[in-house]
Amino acid sequence: MECQIKNICCIGAGYVGGPTMAVIAQKCPHIQVNVVDINRERIRNWNEKDLERLPIYEPGLKKIIEECRGENLHFSNEVEKNIETADMIFISVNTPTKKKGIGAGQASDLKWIEASARKIAEYANGKTIVVEKSTLPVKTAEVIKNILEFSNVDQTKYKTQSKSFTVLSNPEFLSEGTAIKDLENPDRVLIGGDNEESIKALVNIYLNWVDETKILTTDLWSSELSKLTANAFLAQRISSINSISALCESTGADINDVATAIGADKRIGSHFLQSGPGFGGSCFKKDILNLIYICNHYGLNHVSSYWIQVLEINNWQKKRISNIVVNKLFGTISGKKIAVLGFAFKANTNDTRESAAIDICKDLIEEGANLNIYDPKVSLSQIENDLFTLKTNNQINYPIESTVTICKLIIEAIKDSDAIIVLTEWEEFKHLNWEEISSLMRKPSWLFDTRSICDLKKAKSYGINVWRVGMDNEKN
Ligand code: UDX
Ligand code: UDX
Repeated sequence: MECQIKNICCIGAGYVGGPTMAVIAQKCPHIQVNVVDINRERIRNWNEKDLERLPIYEPGLKKIIEECRGENLHFSNEVEKNIETADMIFISVNTPTKKKGIGAGQASDLKWIEASARKIAEYANGKTIVVEKSTLPVKTAEVIKNILEFSNVDQTKYKTQSKSFTVLSNPEFLSEGTAIKDLENPDRVLIGGDNEESIKALVNIYLNWVDETKILTTDLWSSELSKLTANAFLAQRISSINSISALCESTGADINDVATAIGADKRIGSHFLQSGPGFGGSCFKKDILNLIYICNHYGLNHVSSYWIQVLEINNWQKKRISNIVVNKLFGTISGKKIAVLGFAFKANTNDTRESAAIDICKDLIEEGANLNIYDPKVSLSQIENDLFTLKTNNQINYPIESTVTICKLIIEAIKDSDAIIVLTEWEEFKHLNWEEISSLMRKPSWLFDTRSICDLKKAKSYGINVWRVGMDNEKN
């Protein structure tokens, strides 16, 4: 008999769980979707009347929340109760890189996954399909299966309530800033598993809005590995183009022309060839580290060395940019004021995880600069948190003279600055008024455009010195 899902529970109301469940609720009005999280503030924010205060900013998300919340989409802290009533449970909790113990610095910390699996083992009823949504190391599904089957829940319950579980892998490929679009119109939906009936149940959910030719089914491990590999390939393209950006700067070629020329080749394709300050986001680095860890585990050291380089180039790109800023400002930025435009790891998101801005700001602070940071979506407390944690961990000794000011307006950040560094490609940075800006800056003034989005000619025409990633900055 075909299994019809009527009630979904998603553990984890984050960047993945929130938008994914919102779209499922919108496309499947016949299914009740309960998103649960242990974080009370997060859930309070998801239930905010004022939609401007949702915990996550994603274009298109507000509209769906307005339409479905309270109808078939619910956010709550009642984890156990919602597990009990669900036919299908998505696990969307975070899986940070381990900070200590075996695999520290590389392997993912699966403690939240394990905690979720234990809760499911204890509270689920009847036949339950458990879906891995978080990006995980290959073979995590096996761990989840083991916990579900053998956890020390009162085994009699399994009999009396005829509990049974199947585990599927259904990785997310959504990209922050376009999450809703990616969910509504995915390139593909990938479902890995070994139980036909459960796979069919999940396929049926997606068939409500996704064409069946785009739904791929595989075994569990292939699905898990495809997710890691997709992110590793995407990250590798960015490191490749960034490595060539440095060569362009030394030789006088222009990285944007090179990217257009190579991208015109269908075999290469034009996406993900924008050179920048280095990739950020919660996934790329973590997934490559996972890949490296797995390869080492299987003795494939050549393979792991290959992927390590992708991360090394990324770190080098960030360092390279901070060094350029210092060098151009006569070798010292101590006491100088630098306006940092953009702190999110990319435009259209308020997420700062692994943002290149964090490392670059750290470097500039270490050199004694005074930073005025402006980002249209990232909150003051988030920026403080990202920079302040470093301080409390004593990883960095802030020079006493350096200060960090978080600004609400671009103009406020720019006033009296010696340099502007653009780190996120927000639309508003493409239309800056260079005449006004140049009148507010200290001379000689500099613009460092790490995203190739500013009107350099205009900036130059008002006497600002410009540097842009991937071009011969001496010649131009
Ligand atoms: C996702 C993916 O799931 C992760 O694998 C990927 O690598 C990063 O992106 P994301 O949604 O971005 O995670 O994470 P986050 O925004 O931190 O949300 C996770 C949520 O899970 C948090 O709100 C946290 O409170 C919640 N959580 C965590 C639980 O509800 N229960 C737990 O036991 C642990
Ligand atoms: C990524 C994957 O794209 C998505 O499929 C996966 O599920 C989660 O991880 P995300 O982290 O949201 O999504 O952002 P993405 O658009 O991939 O960008 C990652 C980083 O690469 C950003 O810092 C971005 O600025 C940078 N980037 C991207 C470039 O520097 N150049 C490019 O051409 C593209």
